[in-house]
Amino acid sequence: MTPSDVKATLSFSDGSPSMDLPIYKGTVGPDVIDIRKLYGQTGKFTYDPGFLSTASCQSTITYIDGDKGELLYRGYPIEQLAVHCDYLDTCYLLLYGELPNSEQRGTFHQRVLNHTMVNEQMQFFLRGFRRDAHPMAVMTGLVGALSAFYHDSTDINNPEHREIAAIRLIAKMPTLVAMAYKYSIGQPFIYPKNDLSYAGNFMRMMFATPCEEYKVNPVIERALDRIFILHADHEQNASTSTVRLCGSSGTNPFAAIAAGVACLWGPAHGGANEACLNMLTEIQAKGGVAKVGEFMNQVKDKNSGVKLMGFGHRVYKNYDPRAKLMQETCKEVLLELGLENDPLFKLAMSLEKIALEDDYFVARKLYPNVDFYSGIVQRAIGIPVQLFTAIFALARTVGWIAQLNEMISDPEYKIGRPRQLFTGAAARTVKPVEQR
Ligand code: ACO
Repeated sequence: MTPSDVKATLSFSDGSPSMDLPIYKGTVGPDVIDIRKLYGQTGKFTYDPGFLSTASCQSTITYIDGDKGELLYRGYPIEQLAVHCDYLDTCYLLLYGELPNSEQRGTFHQRVLNHTMVNEQMQFFLRGFRRDAHPMAVMTGLVGALSAFYHDSTDINNPEHREIAAIRLIAKMPTLVAMAYKYSIGQPFIYPKNDLSYAGNFMRMMFATPCEEYKVNPVIERALDRIFILHADHEQNASTSTVRLCGSSGTNPFAAIAAGVACLWGPAHGGANEACLNMLTEIQAKGGVAKVGEFMNQVKDKNSGVKLMGFGHRVYKNYDPRAKLMQETCKEVLLELGLENDPLFKLAMSLEKIALEDDYFVARKLYPNVDFYSGIVQRAIGIPVQLFTAIFALARTVGWIAQLNEMISDPEYKIGRPRQLFTGAAARTVKPVEQR
């Protein structure tokens, strides 16, 4: 970290001595005030629930400028990666810091593809779930269970274990998601096929049956690969912070990633794409575009509890750059599948147009996020709504593992242990039951 010449001075109105706090500069983005010695010197904590002003770590992986609507993985704009690279190149970049040359690319792709099978015993574990279980419930269980099957990669402090766990997780997530899907519809599992691309292999495991040959549609393959790239990392969001906090105790990588899957499930985070599509379907059922105005009034009424899903973001106060790319992909996929008049897409465009011109959204800087269009694309591809968040988890796994490995390799890393402002009862005495 580069210290700044400027220091922050914290003073107190009760005459307590003031304190100088160092300030560090990042490569880009806001400076940070180092408060690590604050408690030792003043006996006070800072209070920041929701981490609105707190950097929980230093990181070199992903940078977001929310005001500009900019997203960089290791310095490269998402718009360039989405066009010039594929998902496995992006994985390599996130994990090792640079884009691969052609030899590194070939070796890495081969390594990942060689790990796509899961221990055969895992299917018996999967068969213990109800067939109508939510795929994220199944994925939380399956990912956590990987630590019961791959004992040679569970030591988070061993760099070789971390490396092989990273490859295994990236390679096996598509297999697990596809298995969860096949199980839910009662079809046989389709084993991975390593001469296909990462996205192509996933499509085959999802949609092929043993009865007939499956041909990968290159437009859909590219769309899916783009969905994976756009979701690969997003700096210290809720699930990534969960993975870091969980991993900070020294638990194994599979357990830490399972914690990330669980966090991602929520509708304010990864569950938003499912919630967004459900919202569009509901408006469509009530009358579609004609009912947009009525729906918007509900969204703006604070007492209604209704939100425009797929809109708003903690960090982006401008158009989410991933939403632009996803809208482009959405158009390509619908055209390829002859669905260019898809009513849900038309409805989404109409909602977006109204929202972008409405004072409520303009004043609060609420713009479409990546989830606004990703659900429409996935639905068109034939992915059931309930599986959307599992696909997000598949794509985000590389970000989680890159961030986890970065934390463990940081010499300054400590177990994460937030403090609190206690407002409950002070010490008191237990009374006998008849006096309570
Ligand atoms: N619809 C209507 N109003 C909204 C929305 C929305 N989607 N999002 C935010 N607002 C309003 C809030 O009510 C608040 O209004 P107020 O100032 O009058 O009280 C204001 O905008 C600021 O919003 P906050 O909730 O304070 O913003 P925060 O950073 O805490 O929340 C979040 C961000 C959770 C993403 C929120 O915008 C939201 O719930 N959006 C819908 C769910 C969604 O799409 N999530 C996906 C996020 S991206 C991802 O995880 C990949």
